Amino acid sequence: MGLSMPFTMPLRLGLMKKKLGIKIGRNELCPCGSGKKYKKCCALKKGQPDPDNLEAYYKKKFDIRLKKAEDIEKIRVAGDLVVKTHELVKEMIKPGITTDEINTVVHEFTVKNGAIPAPLNYKGYPKSVCLSINDVICHGIPGDRVLKDGDILNVDITSIVDGFYADANQTHYVGTPSQDAIKIVEVAKESLKQALSVVRPGNTIGDIGHAIQSYAEGQGCSVVREFIGHGVGYDFHEGPQVPHFGRKGHGIPLVPGMVFTIEPMINLGGPELYILDDQWTAVTRDGSLSAQFEETIVVTEEGFESLTPLGL
Ligand code: MF3
Ligand code: CO
Ligand code: CO
Repeated sequence: MGLSMPFTMPLRLGLMKKKLGIKIGRNELCPCGSGKKYKKCCALKKGQPDPDNLEAYYKKKFDIRLKKAEDIEKIRVAGDLVVKTHELVKEMIKPGITTDEINTVVHEFTVKNGAIPAPLNYKGYPKSVCLSINDVICHGIPGDRVLKDGDILNVDITSIVDGFYADANQTHYVGTPSQDAIKIVEVAKESLKQALSVVRPGNTIGDIGHAIQSYAEGQGCSVVREFIGHGVGYDFHEGPQVPHFGRKGHGIPLVPGMVFTIEPMINLGGPELYILDDQWTAVTRDGSLSAQFEETIVVTEEGFESLTPLGL
């Protein structure tokens, strides 16, 4: 007995623990005697995800599709077009132009490049880009509204290239900005930067929200709750959900291959909103200015990479 102990101990220990109802460590030998680690054997009940196979684990547990290297390159190609389209639009923003004119430029440039503007007909959305002015938080619909000096304008562009999606937005000054305009645009921009600074494996989705919320609220601004960042790439909106508020260390752990947007909507006044009769346009309840910046990023071993670098 004593002599054979060292040889059979792991198996016997496992069996004994099982009988006694003691939790078996995932790295211990499986009590079934297979010689495999418990986590690679009987811990894997039928249909249960294997944390050592991250791709299957994230799909099963969180409904997140981690992206393969070659797919990340395809999303990057879509991202390059989104960035180029932003550069084109930036050049035309001045007092006197209409939002329909911007929509036409985005639509034609996208199609000319063999791509599809993702917003068009998405859940019934009628245009190819979202254009949100002043107190419009997001999803403003292009029309005959004329931009005027002092406005702020968010341009949100999503392109589909060869079936892959990339999504990015930024807020521009129209002509000469007011002090309020500068305040909200700079706080929104810095909110995205603060969020990006915590994106790395081991940190969580909650860390991202916390970085944004603590910074923006610390500046006396508020964070919109009803719209959040999202996984993107294979589809327009997929898992994970990325709230722009949250608690340190909470939520899904970030792992390489996760592709998602961070797109904080920051209000100068309160966070409350309502939706106009068009069923899309979200505006601040108190009429205060709202600004937003968005990039599509991929989590890497080292941290993250932007697939839509706007050079903020
Ligand atoms: N681009 C937006 C986002 O960042 C979504 C717009 S949906 C649309 O998620 F239908 F309004 F285009
Ligand atoms: Co988005
Ligand atoms: Co967007």
